[in-house]
Amino acid sequence: MLAVEIEHLNVYIRHAHILKNVTLRIPKNTVFVIMGPSGSGKTTLLKVINRLIDFTEGVRVEGVVRVLDIDALKADPYELRKRIGMVFQTPNPFPHLTIYENVAIAAKLNGVARSKRELDEIVRWALEKAMLWDEVKHRLHAYPHQLSGGQRQRLCLARALAMKPEILLLDEPTANIDPINARKLEEAIVSLKDEVTVVMVTHSPHQAARVADYIAVLYDGRVVEQGPAQQLFLRPSTEITQKLLRGEM
Ligand SMILES: Nc1ncnc2c1ncn2[C@@H]1O[C@H](COP(=O)(O)OP(=O)(O)OP(=O)(O)O)[C@@H](O)[C@H]1O
Ligand SMILES: [Mg+2]
Repeated sequence: MLAVEIEHLNVYIRHAHILKNVTLRIPKNTVFVIMGPSGSGKTTLLKVINRLIDFTEGVRVEGVVRVLDIDALKADPYELRKRIGMVFQTPNPFPHLTIYENVAIAAKLNGVARSKRELDEIVRWALEKAMLWDEVKHRLHAYPHQLSGGQRQRLCLARALAMKPEILLLDEPTANIDPINARKLEEAIVSLKDEVTVVMVTHSPHQAARVADYIAVLYDGRVVEQGPAQQLFLRPSTEITQKLLRGEM
């Protein structure tokens, strides 16, 4: 079963050709990692999946994008985004909402919780899944500015999870956090596989080795290689992949 199926995707922003004939298959309940140098189109690819690309001025998207068996390019983007959570590179919790409210609002917006008790349960579940519960359970009504960067990032993960998404898009979620918090986030990501399909961008080959089931390598807007992570690490078939996995790119 596939969570995402992309065929011959081309993305243009004004005159620039950003994604070039991209074909990708992302199986359900896996961690699918996208690697590639800066500017290769990783974020753009994530934004096509949840249609955030619609907000880019001068954009043209061509090809086939099936997400959860829906034609994502024709679907109602609001309905689509209810089923797809996203965590951005820089943690962006709502500053005027408490830790509790940051998570609860996502569940409320998606109609996942019907009562206060259900809401409390979902907030706890999401914070536990994001490996943050123990650190915040005594201060759920504090504001996010009291959290460390890594905690804020895990709060964003909890917020995304509280929507009960089927797909989770993570754009370099550990880029700005320390190694201990990064490991916690990685653990959380791997433990989520039963419930969601994770599509994650990372620059770190070590991280990819720890979490990825599949890897796709983007270079200058093209997929140069994709396959099971083990296979890519053992027998990378392109020089670009070899360099990326050695951390030289
Ligand atoms: N709104 C935009 N307008 C014009 N060009 C854009 C826009 N967004 C992205 N691009 C261009 O598209 C290309 C791919 O950008 P993208 O953000 O997808 O790269 P990336 O692989 O995520 O890089 P990084 O690792 O630095 O985050 C880049 O050349 C970038 O300059
Ligand atoms: Mg990016």
